[in-house]
Amino acid sequence: MARLVVTGTPGVGKTTIALELSRIYGAALIKLDELITPTLKWDPELQTYIITNEDYARRLIMERLSSIHSQYIIDTIAVNLIDPSLVDWCIVLRLEPTQLMRRLIARGWPYCKIVENVLAEVVGSSLTMAINTFGEDKIIEVDTTNKDVESIVKYIVDKLREGRPIIGVVDWLNTVDTEFLVNLSKEIDNCITR
Ligand SMILES: Nc1ncnc2c1ncn2[C@@H]1O[C@H](COP(=O)(O)OP(=O)(O)OP(=O)(O)O)[C@@H](O)[C@H]1O
Ligand SMILES: [Mg+2]
Repeated sequence: MARLVVTGTPGVGKTTIALELSRIYGAALIKLDELITPTLKWDPELQTYIITNEDYARRLIMERLSSIHSQYIIDTIAVNLIDPSLVDWCIVLRLEPTQLMRRLIARGWPYCKIVENVLAEVVGSSLTMAINTFGEDKIIEVDTTNKDVESIVKYIVDKLREGRPIIGVVDWLNTVDTEFLVNLSKEIDNCITR
């Protein structure tokens, strides 16, 4: 039985990959944002939705997941809201930061929101949060850079079959161009002090 979470920085491909996995496994697809909509409020300053009541959000998630007696795939960035006993594996998608930046620019997001999220990918915030929530033994980290959806999904299915955790597949701090990183940190300074 697969009870999976698919997580990662915004734009990395969670929804795309979670949908394919749900088709392959015949599993229910849970979009966490939709499930916890009653607890979300748009923050115009941060240009994102914030959770107004975490306890309520956790309860909504717990109730929904407990009602499913088969497989499910959860598409989310907010892994910390999920009870770890309800998850077998957490797939953490990673994407080379300059490519992620291009994807987020294509979305037309505000520049500071793009910079903030690209930096989060550089330092691996989503991986850290997944490890903190589920523990290292439940993590399968996947580098999606320059891979099409089909090969990413095939890789994940193979790794799930092997059943061994995988962590440490990317190190953007040491592989991404230094000038790109310096510019990002300058940009985030400008965003914070604005
Ligand atoms: N392997 C891939 N190669 C190329 N483009 C991809 C790949 N996976 C996803 N994309 C594209 O990248 C964009 C972002 O994908 P997606 O919406 O699945 O990301 P997400 O992680 O769910 O984002 P969000 O956190 O904002 O919901 C989409 O336009 C999607 O078609
Ligand atoms: Mg999505």
